[in-house]
Amino acid sequence: MTANQEVSLGMPQLPAPAYPADVRARLDADAKEVIARYPGSRSALLPLLHLVQSEEGYVSRTGMAFCAETLDLTTAEVTAVATFYSMYRRRPSGDYQVGVCTNTLCAVMGGDAIFDTLKEHLGVGNNETTDDGKVTLEHIECNAACDFAPVVMVNWEFFDNQTPESATQLVDDLIAGRTVEPTRGAPICSYKETARILAGFPDERPGAVEASGGAGAASLVGLKLAKGEALPKARVVAPRDGRPKEGQPHDPSPSEHLSSHDAPQQTSASDPEHPAGPAAEEGE
Ligand code: FES
Repeated sequence: MTANQEVSLGMPQLPAPAYPADVRARLDADAKEVIARYPGSRSALLPLLHLVQSEEGYVSRTGMAFCAETLDLTTAEVTAVATFYSMYRRRPSGDYQVGVCTNTLCAVMGGDAIFDTLKEHLGVGNNETTDDGKVTLEHIECNAACDFAPVVMVNWEFFDNQTPESATQLVDDLIAGRTVEPTRGAPICSYKETARILAGFPDERPGAVEASGGAGAASLVGLKLAKGEALPKARVVAPRDGRPKEGQPHDPSPSEHLSSHDAPQQTSASDPEHPAGPAAEEGE
């Protein structure tokens, strides 16, 4: 191999084509506004990546070159960030990013069935877009909404407690251009519009801010516990073995706690059978 032969490492080929002059002028003005919010310009990289997504619907090579030049970073630094976070798309995709959580809890609660149904209904696979350019379907990892499993997200808005039927209706509504409201928050807007909001620009749709909603009831159970408020009668984790008689005081076993994470666990430090406690530091 000669010194002039190119070695492809799977990285974007730079330099990228330039934005048209009018687009560049608009992005320059928006970027200036974003950068002014931070003490150091490089801290504006995440919102600027959203900004370039709002232009093309994904982070193109041109978008990455724009971010690098504007923030005085290398394209390698920008690429490293853009490829790390799953909220940045690397290729042209649909107006609606439909993510089905197929992480463990959602999967067993029906997420796998929802994904399979949508795959067949839309005729696309994971990370593929329908021919009309409307919907991109993808598996997503846990979105910290396990208390509403199985969840589907559209452009990062939650649709709780979904079923194959409700998710099918959801994508049909999106494709038909009908107004779609998430479980919490304002009606769904396009991916580009969402990206501009994520870049930090105001959501100017009437009623959108007021519709941002609050936490769902299931999410507030832990807060009620912490405040000592009345507990719901139903237990999240049912006892798996002998339950003490009604009214008889006892130390609750881990399986009787509302959440097994809250239960006191026998550790080496607390277990009288193993009194050594934590391992000593070196030299003690
Ligand atoms: S497993 Fe789906 S939101 Fe946590």
